[in-house]
Amino acid sequence: MSAAEYVRNPDLVILQRRLFAPTYMGPGKWVIYDTSTRRSHLAVRSEDDVRTKDIPRVLKYLIDDWPHSNNLPRCIVDQLLHAGLVVECDTRATSPKRPENFLSKFQRIVHDYPFVDYSSPEAYQFDRALMAEYADESEMPSIWTKRTGKSITLPDVSWSDLEAGTQGRDFDLNGLASVLRFSFGQIGSFRVPGGERVRKANPSGGAKHPTEGWLEMGHSWCGIQPGTYFYDPENHALVQTETQTPASAGAGLTLSVRSRLERAMWRYRDPRSSRAVLFDAGHVIENLFILLRFLGTDAYLHPGRLLCGFGADDFREPELGRIDIPIDNSPLGLSPVYHGSAANTTEQDIGEPFVLNPFAYFTLKNGGLTGNIAYPKHRRVDLSPVEFSILTHCIPSSRGAPSRSRDRYTTTKDIVEAIPCSSEADIERLESNGLLLRQTHASVLWPQVRRWAEKGWYLPLLAWTEASTPAGHAVPTEREASNGRSISGLTDIAKPLRKRITSRSFTDQQITSSRLRSIIQHSLVADSSVSTATLFIAPFKISGLPAETLHYWDNVNNQFVTTENRATVDDIVRVTIGQGWVRNCAAMIWLMSTIDTGCPRHYVSPHVLLGRIAQRVALLSTTHELGVFQTPATLDADLAALLGCEPSPDTLSYSVAIGATSRKAAV
Ligand SMILES: Cc1cc2nc3c(=O)[nH]c(=O)nc-3n(C[C@H](O)[C@H](O)[C@H](O)COP(=O)(O)O)c2cc1C
Repeated sequence: MSAAEYVRNPDLVILQRRLFAPTYMGPGKWVIYDTSTRRSHLAVRSEDDVRTKDIPRVLKYLIDDWPHSNNLPRCIVDQLLHAGLVVECDTRATSPKRPENFLSKFQRIVHDYPFVDYSSPEAYQFDRALMAEYADESEMPSIWTKRTGKSITLPDVSWSDLEAGTQGRDFDLNGLASVLRFSFGQIGSFRVPGGERVRKANPSGGAKHPTEGWLEMGHSWCGIQPGTYFYDPENHALVQTETQTPASAGAGLTLSVRSRLERAMWRYRDPRSSRAVLFDAGHVIENLFILLRFLGTDAYLHPGRLLCGFGADDFREPELGRIDIPIDNSPLGLSPVYHGSAANTTEQDIGEPFVLNPFAYFTLKNGGLTGNIAYPKHRRVDLSPVEFSILTHCIPSSRGAPSRSRDRYTTTKDIVEAIPCSSEADIERLESNGLLLRQTHASVLWPQVRRWAEKGWYLPLLAWTEASTPAGHAVPTEREASNGRSISGLTDIAKPLRKRITSRSFTDQQITSSRLRSIIQHSLVADSSVSTATLFIAPFKISGLPAETLHYWDNVNNQFVTTENRATVDDIVRVTIGQGWVRNCAAMIWLMSTIDTGCPRHYVSPHVLLGRIAQRVALLSTTHELGVFQTPATLDADLAALLGCEPSPDTLSYSVAIGATSRKAAV
């Protein structure tokens, strides 16, 4: 076969090495990454490339109008084939079409993720050693973030405020205090080797509890001035921020549900872990809804805008959900539109250096090279090899600024001098498309981006950037009301909120199928307008449901439907990456949903939905004196095979094991 009979691997993306692999200290500015195999290649310049001031040869082979201008020797083609950088026409190149965005690629990257296999005790030792290494490197972030600003202490609340008969009052400051305290505040604590962890009303991966609440008020209410406030759970206070207040005064209260990512990132340094923080937010959002509903207050959920304003606070605490609470006859459920705060991109200083946009990644299309960004605008731009050389030249030093050395000066004049055949027009085009940023703008973004990159979260950042609703845009229209939602099955809400813990040991006691049915039925919060959930159930100790059978839940007729498939205890342990905690459970429930990667704005919704359902399962099980264990760590392909489903990168699953428990919670 000649080069013409191969195509460039369509799953490749070209990424900035400093952001993809920030701890690597050797040469090479670009990484070629296969999003379907997770294989990465460093593109390094040969001595000849350095002498001719060229980009690495391997990139030249790939981006130079493949295959027409490539009269490549057979040995080079073989090397490219061997590395998976080119493929035979009839293999991956013709696989089913997926949206051409990063989100779609990201789902493939995190699909069937190669988790550590916890079936061996060494895995836990490895985990502990890794955490010790991380701790040597940097202090574990506290789960309480110190907030600075004017602080307003909220009224004291107690569990008796949640007793039956206390609901239905007007929503006032006491109500708000209860909602915030019991959703974000500490409920208890538990010991782990080497320390103590905080317990809240929701479970949280590694007990990191990254989910936070900000309160936005368009007008004064109960003596509190309009503004944006952090809820400070440690001091049960609102702390005024300098963040811009929503433009639409009079729209009631909005709870912006955020995630303080550094807490989760410190422990989980892989792209798949970004999923857990979205589930975490779903758990907290459900608590907020349950409490608001208990207090007789309407509430409307809108999907979070993720990085929205692209300010420092948004990078540190992206928004994963917005809950509007209408008060004092304010308009119902109108989530405010933000104005301004997106960085100014129309810098006029022609002498100012340029820097490559940290959100830029490159794909191979139509024989050439395409530059892609989702911030400050969504752009997909075909690039010439010269333009790519310009962008390579403008990769900043490790500090995010052009280096002091002469060859890296990056004003228009410097670039034209340094890059053969480049012109001012090329630079103008790259700037107008957002691939090149002015130094002032880039130096604000780079430190924020690096924070994610240093913890191995650059790929989620690219995906989340694409799924963000930028400042100045109305939030997506999806709206879920709390008022139609039943909290039946949860008449005493204080007990489950207070007593919920994660169970890692189950007893042999059987559970009746009617009890399991009741838990599932009451757990299914109304599907959101963009996401639906499907539940599969593997019973092991459920009277009336034979062990090792497999069922799905018929949401219309509220019944289990038996499938032809079967699942053994070994199967469920295996798909739960060997975590033996689930071995003795009475039933394993898989909550499943689908991500529509063609519609990035709706990316957060199915995650939040599954988190909300899992929180309900946890609270209802606690009411029934049952224990729950939950994890998103699943072998996706094995789970699909077990359930008899087609494996898809866009399928989202969340595993929830329930069973009778001695309530001895291991860690
Ligand atoms: C999204 C998510 C993922 C989790 N993943 C695991 C897991 O893989 N293994 C595990 O042992 N516990 C897991 N947990 C449980 C947490 O470790 C547990 O919630 C945390 O230690 C706090 O304990 P508590 O739930 O008893 O308050 C997870 C919890 C959540 C919400």
